[in-house]
Amino acid sequence: MQLLLAFAAWLPFGSHGVLAYTLPDLSTNHHLAARAADLKAAAATLQPQLSKNAEIVFPNDDEWDALLIRGTSPRIYPNYNVVVQVATESDVQKTVQLAYQYGIPFLTVSGTHGWTKTLNNLPYGIQINMRKLNTTVVDAGGKTATVGGGTLQYEITRALFAKNKQAVTGLCECVSVIGPLMGGGHSMLQARHGFALDNIVSANIVLANGTLVKASSASHSDLFWALRGAGHNFGVVTSMQLNVYDIQKNWTVYALIYDQSKIETLFPVINAQDSSPTRPSNLVLTGVWTRIPDIDANYPVIAYTVAYEGTEAEAAQYVAPFQAVGPIVTQVSTNVDYVQLYTVTQNNLDSVACRRNLSAMGSGASLPSWNTTSARAAFKVFTALTADARFNTSVMLLENYGMQGVKAVDPASTSLSLEERQFPIVANPTIWWPGNDTKTIAEAYAYGEKIRQAWFSGVGNVNKHTYVNYAIGTESFQQMYGYEDWRTKKLKGLKGAWDPKNKFGYYNPVPSK
Ligand SMILES: Cc1cc2nc3c(=O)[nH]c(=O)nc-3n(C[C@H](O)[C@H](O)[C@H](O)COP(=O)(O)OP(=O)(O)OC[C@H]3O[C@@H](n4cnc5c(N)ncnc54)[C@H](O)[C@@H]3O)c2cc1C
Ligand SMILES: *[C@@H]1O[C@H](CO)[C@@H](O)[C@H](O)[C@H]1NC(C)=O
Ligand SMILES: *[C@@H]1O[C@H](CO)[C@@H](O)[C@H](O)[C@H]1NC(C)=O
Ligand SMILES: *[C@@H]1O[C@H](CO)[C@@H](O)[C@H](O)[C@H]1NC(C)=O
Ligand SMILES: *[C@@H]1O[C@H](CO)[C@@H](O)[C@H](O)[C@H]1NC(C)=O
Ligand SMILES: *[C@@H]1O[C@H](CO)[C@@H](O)[C@H](O)[C@H]1NC(C)=O
Ligand SMILES: *[C@@H]1O[C@H](CO)[C@@H](O)[C@H](O)[C@H]1NC(C)=O
Ligand SMILES: *[C@@H]1O[C@H](CO)[C@@H](O)[C@H](O)[C@H]1NC(C)=O
Repeated sequence: MQLLLAFAAWLPFGSHGVLAYTLPDLSTNHHLAARAADLKAAAATLQPQLSKNAEIVFPNDDEWDALLIRGTSPRIYPNYNVVVQVATESDVQKTVQLAYQYGIPFLTVSGTHGWTKTLNNLPYGIQINMRKLNTTVVDAGGKTATVGGGTLQYEITRALFAKNKQAVTGLCECVSVIGPLMGGGHSMLQARHGFALDNIVSANIVLANGTLVKASSASHSDLFWALRGAGHNFGVVTSMQLNVYDIQKNWTVYALIYDQSKIETLFPVINAQDSSPTRPSNLVLTGVWTRIPDIDANYPVIAYTVAYEGTEAEAAQYVAPFQAVGPIVTQVSTNVDYVQLYTVTQNNLDSVACRRNLSAMGSGASLPSWNTTSARAAFKVFTALTADARFNTSVMLLENYGMQGVKAVDPASTSLSLEERQFPIVANPTIWWPGNDTKTIAEAYAYGEKIRQAWFSGVGNVNKHTYVNYAIGTESFQQMYGYEDWRTKKLKGLKGAWDPKNKFGYYNPVPSK
């Protein structure tokens, strides 16, 4: 008790968790130099409760700035007073218990690529940094692996590759395994094996009060259901067991660049592939609109990727319709192994996608099919956006990863929305800009929403849906979590049961009522 009180002394409330005085403006003074002495005293009290590799970092420590830079900052900039770099499951429990007892807000951080502005609602408190929980171990039998809650895709991919295995994870090396998974997890392997969340066998979760539970289909199955679709709202995942698969083949990757005049002919080709009953589950289609001034000085171009797990000869029939559209540039990479795939598709640690400290923003729309009228309208807005030098490295993501594996899973078996399980397309402007002035931020949101509405204008009466991990915090609950009454009621009920005090309320929040 003594120790806990000492830790609580520097926090802006009394020992009963009640806000005792008004906080200084932490958004402009996150260094809190004036409190250095109190913070040091607190460190001295919490440290002995933690494992020897855990570290507590304060605003005036050397590591502080590096721990606060995000893949999406400065736009996303939660206000922390302290970072606890946990190294064991027990460290997570100890830290969460302390936060619970004293009503201290906290936010878990793994890959730092969360980009919803609701993360900025953290008023002050603790960053629980998970990066020391970064191990991947293939389990006996070789069908599953146990993966730490702070593991990046870069790490899991390499650890598994060394054993000729792969797991269903996202595309960017710098993003965590758990972050995408809890909201779905779009992957190059989804057409074969379902979303990342369809491949989780069990998870160790620290609840808001510090209690550790194992969630699986056999243990706390209701929490396991909620975890798979809305997991960011329920607890801290310290480790999880994931399905892993033997790597069979290398990939053939075509990079095709079209000028903008091909919009009306290219999108129908993609639709045709998607609706083809013979679309193979080892074919991945994705692309971006992007500015490449050397190719087109006036307009963004369409840089399209046709990736096929197999040889160039096997891939030929699937790329043929795309070649017939008439790309300006065609490049083919053959014998690409699963590690190289991240580099060839420009999603590796050094890629533009993995830049840190530029503001990054999405504004996703999940769609039943491409509508060329909408595409042209969205392209006009994207052209205006990227004509502005502040925003000219932005891209428009056009993802059609394939849906067979995703649709093979019973939609009622996880909390993931029905729309997410059914719609084959994610369209998402990824807007990047330097700096943090409010005028530029407002312009970015306005452009993003205009592009999204252009896409939505073509879907008729279909539900307007945004992948929760591509949401920016302006969407309605239903737009992210689905429109079925039973599903949203169940989700809210479980939120009330498992996180009654809404401690996990900073990521596209699920209300309890
Ligand atoms: C460049 C980029 C590439 C992306 N690529 C893909 C992709 O290929 N596929 C895809 O599906 N999505 C992708 N996304 C979206 C991605 O799923 C979300 O941005 C996700 O929230 C990122 O997770 P993170 O751990 O990297 O970020 P963080 O900001 O660290 O975490 C995001 C949220 O998860 C919570 N969290 C983190 N770790 C844990 C944990 N161990 N237990 C419980 N909660 C935790 C955090 O508290 C926060 O609320 C991408 C986003 C970006 C910006
Ligand atoms: C950037 O601006 C936002 C909103 O204006 C603010 O919440 C955030 O703290 C700022 N980030 C930095 C690093 O100052
Ligand atoms: C990965 O975990 C180990 C062991 O906890 C830790 O020493 C290392 O710093 C972690 N890696 C990163 C990049 O944080
Ligand atoms: C994949 O390609 C690499 C070279 O990039 C080669 O060394 C490896 O043997 C190939 N693997 C398979 C399964 O064909
Ligand atoms: C942003 O990160 C780069 C390294 O990726 C660094 O050189 C630069 O100084 C950083 N800028 C700011 C404003 O922190
Ligand atoms: C973005 O604008 C800057 C400044 O005008 C310019 O130097 C750069 O080449 C532009 N980049 C692209 C991709 O258009
Ligand atoms: C495409 O969207 C437009 C509105 O933007 C609509 O008029 C048209 O009917 C849609 N086309 C198809 C094929 O749905
Ligand atoms: C912790 O929270 C869970 C979920 O709300 C609850 O079931 C459990 O009883 C709580 N434990 C304690 C010790 O309060």
